Amino acid sequence: MGSKQLNEILGVTTPILLAGMGGIAGPALAAAVSNAGAAGCVGGYKLKGDQLGDVLLETAALTSRSFGINFIPEVVGSAGLEQQIDLVVRISPPQVFITLFGMPDDDAISFLRKSGRRLVIQVGTVDDAEHAADFCDVVVLQGIEAGGHLLGQLSLAELFARCNDRGLRVPLVVSGGIADIATIRQYRSAGAAGVQLGTAFLVAEEAQTHPTFVDRVLAASASDTVITDRFTIGWPGRRHRVLAHPVAVGPRQPSTFIGRTTISGRHYVVPRYSAAVPTRATSGRIEEMVMYCGTSCERVTATEPAHKLVARLAAAFED
Ligand SMILES: Cc1cc2nc3c(=O)[nH]c(=O)nc-3n(C[C@H](O)[C@H](O)[C@H](O)COP(=O)(O)O)c2cc1C
Repeated sequence: MGSKQLNEILGVTTPILLAGMGGIAGPALAAAVSNAGAAGCVGGYKLKGDQLGDVLLETAALTSRSFGINFIPEVVGSAGLEQQIDLVVRISPPQVFITLFGMPDDDAISFLRKSGRRLVIQVGTVDDAEHAADFCDVVVLQGIEAGGHLLGQLSLAELFARCNDRGLRVPLVVSGGIADIATIRQYRSAGAAGVQLGTAFLVAEEAQTHPTFVDRVLAASASDTVITDRFTIGWPGRRHRVLAHPVAVGPRQPSTFIGRTTISGRHYVVPRYSAAVPTRATSGRIEEMVMYCGTSCERVTATEPAHKLVARLAAAFED
């Protein structure tokens, strides 16, 4: 299935998806991407109740187009995810779709189906891609070049080639290490329906990324990133690709508090090795906090409004 079908499923005109990055992809970035014709997405992470309601309503007030809300089943559990989905269905317009990081369990599959919302699932293995294709609308394939938590062990090229061979019934979107037209064109001609980007949007003007984090991404090349399992507080048990600063790669230090942050109006302290990235609302020792970053940083060299990035990369989908 190609880009046209993907566009129809998501209600967009450009098959570029913003990764739903927790803390970074808020209403302003999601709406800017959707208003540019691509698929904006808000990072839902652990948000619930009023905090989740507020970001959904705020985004819907900024765009009448479709956008996604991203959740992480392994972080909130099946019961937590059910509450999040309930709220989405109750208060957001029907064009809001759901994106998941990783596979939901069988209970969750049943309430996700009942939600009536379009469902996008990001996976990192061929088995998960095949299983997800049985019940979701779009599968995002994540290669190990990706910034953030990693769902598999394969390079994107290998994962895509293997999944593409299976002839799955849903459009395949590629994600991990991509931030340029030439690479998108290659995947498109090999049969990918679309692309999902995280790191490239980290430096968009509308992103919530802390300025120090933005500067580090702009200065980094692929070899400045590393896969680690250090930043476990709040999200244990999954490897993640980050910028290789001293806390990520140096000797272990105590998990003492190194900063403060505010998320949707509530205040939190940030311990060393927290899984939460520094945002514009974070203060303290920013340079010690986790900075998820894909090998795509190699090609990310300037900040710009999200619509310009979308317009530049959309050329890869023009004939
Ligand atoms: C800062 C950052 C935060 C992320 N947070 C999430 C998240 O909350 N949920 C999610 O599904 N994926 C998250 N991801 C992973 C992306 O979905 C995607 O796999 C990755 O960004 C693709 O690689 P790229 O960064 O090279 O574009 C995050 C990635 C980054 C860089």
